[in-house]
Amino acid sequence: MPRLATATCIEDLRRMAQRRVPRMFYDYVASGSWTESTYRANVDDFQRLKFRQRVAVDIGTRNLRSTMIGTGVSMPVALAPTGLTGMVCGDGEILAARAAERVGVPFTLSTMSICSIEDVAEHTSRPFWFQLYVMRDRTFMRRLIARAKAAGCSALVLTLDLQVMGQRHKDIKNGLTAPPRPTLRNLLDLATKPHWCWSLSRTRRRGFGNILGHVEGVSDMSSLASWTNDQFDPTLCWDDIAWIKEAWGGKLVVKGIMDAEDARHAVRCGADALIVSNHGGRQLDGAPSSIAALPHIVAEVGNDIEVWFDGGIRSGQDVLRAIALGAKGTFIGRAFLYGLGAGGQAGVERALAIIAKELDISMAFCGRTDIGGVDRSILLNPQIFDDLTKI
Ligand code: GLV
Repeated sequence: MPRLATATCIEDLRRMAQRRVPRMFYDYVASGSWTESTYRANVDDFQRLKFRQRVAVDIGTRNLRSTMIGTGVSMPVALAPTGLTGMVCGDGEILAARAAERVGVPFTLSTMSICSIEDVAEHTSRPFWFQLYVMRDRTFMRRLIARAKAAGCSALVLTLDLQVMGQRHKDIKNGLTAPPRPTLRNLLDLATKPHWCWSLSRTRRRGFGNILGHVEGVSDMSSLASWTNDQFDPTLCWDDIAWIKEAWGGKLVVKGIMDAEDARHAVRCGADALIVSNHGGRQLDGAPSSIAALPHIVAEVGNDIEVWFDGGIRSGQDVLRAIALGAKGTFIGRAFLYGLGAGGQAGVERALAIIAKELDISMAFCGRTDIGGVDRSILLNPQIFDDLTKI
């Protein structure tokens, strides 16, 4: 176990994870598409927003508690749906879901997870959220929706920005598969990652749990890769949301909104929340950062739907900036995956504790005591992204 207590920021956890997680899975997490300009902008643009430091305000009692589509949360931060989480650490989805449960924040399970919906439900006691892609095989989609319902999932998060896939150079060069193939390069790498080998040796969950055994003809990753490429439905359009909403019958969240017009569509299709997201800079390289897009979406639909935020958060200060620009909830992906790679469930709890503390203290420095009352006035330059043609 690395000494998690010595990790005082997410960057510490990232470095620990880099030492412990096999290169192909670390790279899968820590990279973006093509030139990675959007991936970098997601992080860098946060630094451009400056706080107004306030003093001599009574900040003795503070509150981070909030709600996300009616669910009480200990802070407005949820774990994002991330593919292959069970390859960052054995049983990764179960461990992350348990960490989220302990901290009191939502966990979102990806369709492309290693642990299945049923696995996670069996090992947790609070409802989690399930993320779905729109696939050509509508029967399989309906079955996934029914499985998520049966497992007690309390929201369906429909991802709209991965109907075609952004190219990630490293994944191609690394020959990404789950589990890794026993090539000389991989074996040499695994020899330097004993903790990871040990965590994977203790679980039988090493393939895509929601898919293997549930789709005929898919028995290993090689057929699965071509299956996924064939499966994500590029004909998806807004009209498709209606049947998904009806089949699900519960809270629906749409993810991948970067444009005010699309945000309006999300409202029209009856979503309960939308997530401003460019998929962590893994899809359209050259798109603006999520934080630059956020105020435009909030201005368009902030009164009609809960606007949530995803992309580039590496600290509680970043959460505070997103909330200040109008997000009602935020998601962390890499920030929790680094914790998971560094130290399993305890590492995810550590990541969440770091973010909660940074959020609380930074809010206090801004002279605020309640996260619900945080708005643009805590920023010196909230208008910095007003003209997207000039950023
Ligand atoms: C899937 O969500 C990915 O970005 O790989």
